[in-house]
Amino acid sequence: MKRILTLAAAAVAFGAAASAQTVGFSQIGSESGWRAAETTLTRLQAEERGIDLRFSDAQQRQENQIAAIRSFIAQGVDAILLAPVVATGWDSVLEEAQEAEIPVVLLDRMVDSDPSLFLTAVGSDLVHEGSVAGQWLVDAVAGEECRVVELQGTTGSSPAIDRANGFREAIAEHGNIEIVRSQTGNFTRTEGKEVMESFLQAEGGGADICAVYAHNDDMAIGAIQAIEEAGLNPGEDILIVSIDAVPDIFLAMAEGNANATVELTPNMAGPAFDALEAYWADGTIPPNFIQTESRLYTQDDDPMAEYEARRDLGY
Ligand code: AHR
Repeated sequence: MKRILTLAAAAVAFGAAASAQTVGFSQIGSESGWRAAETTLTRLQAEERGIDLRFSDAQQRQENQIAAIRSFIAQGVDAILLAPVVATGWDSVLEEAQEAEIPVVLLDRMVDSDPSLFLTAVGSDLVHEGSVAGQWLVDAVAGEECRVVELQGTTGSSPAIDRANGFREAIAEHGNIEIVRSQTGNFTRTEGKEVMESFLQAEGGGADICAVYAHNDDMAIGAIQAIEEAGLNPGEDILIVSIDAVPDIFLAMAEGNANATVELTPNMAGPAFDALEAYWADGTIPPNFIQTESRLYTQDDDPMAEYEARRDLGY
């Protein structure tokens, strides 16, 4: 394999396609609006397709995710969805799922395990997202000096690693832009605000900061609150660029408090279930990576309309 089951195992797996399928979903937690929407959409997609979804909230801990996967294996589920909190440390448990001939599909974050250990991964090009954010800043400052502070995602997670790298790639040839401070805010609004407060204090009350690059919108919103409390105008005195495209960032953009966001679709489950259904039906092996679209939104893209379009989608 091992992405292709033995014939005997395949006969059992594909035979199961006739009855309701059971899927275990090991979710990271509920650290952000985007994560809440992904959970909601996964539940909805499962309901619409008549899939029995068994949900486990890991509360940001890898050991909880590993325990949940082992429990799903013991229950004999037909597949496992895994949104991995960090990129390393998955080999053993993925091998156990493979031994049990249960296909695993990764959602939104990647692991460093051999791709033969999972059926497919659904996600965006995380490096590209960082690079789109960086290119937006390059264009926005048009050669002016710009000191950037960076709010990183959860340390060791693939979006934190890749979005940091992508942004750096985009600004590499632009000596006018410099990342002067970088710290994790764990993808949460509360920590984004706390870290931004310390950045403001260290950088002349904010006078020495030109832009915030946040690895997600929730941390950007926390940073916006900190900037306002420091008596500055976010979006003007300090530019704000982030990733996710959640409703609240569009409200902030409509109010002039945020400048740009790169969309990450929360509907990872749709393509994941499509791949699993084809696999259960006749053993179709999906591509190793199913890429979702990412696009840039700025204040010119009618942020109020974008807010209205998303406000009831479970964010
Ligand atoms: O893995 C995707 C990231 O995780 C989202 O950008 C962030 O909001 C979430 O916590």
